[in-house]
Amino acid sequence: MNSCNTKKIPKIGIQKAQKQSDLSGFYNLSVKKRLGVLKKFAHLSRNEINALKKCGSLGLKTADRMVENVVGTTEFPVGIATNFIINGKNLLIPMAIEEPSVIAAASNAAKLARQTGGFKTESDEPIMIGQIQLVGLNDKQCEKARVKILMNKKHIIRICNNKDSVMVRLGGGIKDVEVRKLDTSRGKMLVVHLIVDVRDAMGANSINTMAESVSPYLEELTGGKARLRIISNLAVYRMSRATAVWSRKVLGDDLIEGILDAHALAETDPFRCATHNKGVMNGIDSVLIATGNDFRAVAAGAYSYAAYKPGHNSLTTFYKDKKGDLVGTIEIPLAVGIVGGATKTNPVAQVALKILDVKTAQELAQIAACVGLANNFAAMRAMIKEGIQRGHMKLHAENIATTAGAKPNEVKIISKRLIESNCISVGNAHEIIKEIRKTRREKKIKTIKKRFLHK
Ligand code: MEV
Repeated sequence: MNSCNTKKIPKIGIQKAQKQSDLSGFYNLSVKKRLGVLKKFAHLSRNEINALKKCGSLGLKTADRMVENVVGTTEFPVGIATNFIINGKNLLIPMAIEEPSVIAAASNAAKLARQTGGFKTESDEPIMIGQIQLVGLNDKQCEKARVKILMNKKHIIRICNNKDSVMVRLGGGIKDVEVRKLDTSRGKMLVVHLIVDVRDAMGANSINTMAESVSPYLEELTGGKARLRIISNLAVYRMSRATAVWSRKVLGDDLIEGILDAHALAETDPFRCATHNKGVMNGIDSVLIATGNDFRAVAAGAYSYAAYKPGHNSLTTFYKDKKGDLVGTIEIPLAVGIVGGATKTNPVAQVALKILDVKTAQELAQIAACVGLANNFAAMRAMIKEGIQRGHMKLHAENIATTAGAKPNEVKIISKRLIESNCISVGNAHEIIKEIRKTRREKKIKTIKKRFLHK
């Protein structure tokens, strides 16, 4: 018998018994009914179902209107970064993030920058790009189509602006049309860019609507076929910039040299640059999540911009000025909104925007840029001074203690013991919990015995 013959033939019954995930009609069920289906499918306990159902201020009803197939919500801690002075104004900044140390790091960097006046920042007008891809044109036809599109700009602008009268009334709307000829693996293509001022919105909805509504006209005009009609997250016309100075007196020469070395590595090495830029986005994403913004869009734009800009891929720059102080700068595309979407529906986002006291999307983008710069500075400072782990340690140990089953009144003592033992693991936390509880039990018995003996 060869080895092939020994192979087991799969039983058809196994296939039949598998749970099916094609839940047709799931979308139309109430949240309660969806939870019922899910409970059965995944054998969830009542506590597990309650964990899903238990909502913060968003509420299940609102959540159910925001996305499809809702069964619950999840939460992030929201903390306040302190010490920020931005363009001369003192600000408290709400940050939503699950990672320990990020909020403390931002606050710390802002504190060190206060002595030199804090952060200065500015940003471009809120201009976004909508792309329409036109295919089926050869080189000559592409050229002809390009000219035709540019000659009919006014009509294109009219069609698009008819789609968003509110935005136009507020001073926004489509401002220009650009055409790019591209050579791709599928042949020549035209890409039409709608250049749109989206005012205080992030802009995706308005732009996508405009792109879809103008594409039949572009097809008619050029003889090409419109394929993709969508916003570009590489928001190069919507850049925000921020700068801060950290004085030599506060940092000391060695730390400044260390930060410059760290920055030089990020500029040169993509492996380091990825982590360097992640540190920037720790701050930016936290502000965006707290304010209900599309952080994926901003992250996509930021990382693409880093790869696209000539020269260096670091989102920040650090150098020494004439006095020997450390100057940090950031320049980053930041497509954020303060109207529409989750910024309006999520009550916490509304509160966050109130705390920030922003009146325009540009102001919010500027704040986010400052926090990104602050977190990047703080990460480099921490790594050079004492290593990143020390700052993380306390909260990390507290998380581990909780994971291991510590009661709220036990968390502090267990995390302290975990740090002292130099072994922050769930296994070790279990041991410490057992030991602490045993000692407490013995103590209690002793006290009771003493009391009885005295009677
Ligand atoms: C961790 O979330 C972020 C850092 O890795 C950033 C950096 O290395 O610059 C600390």
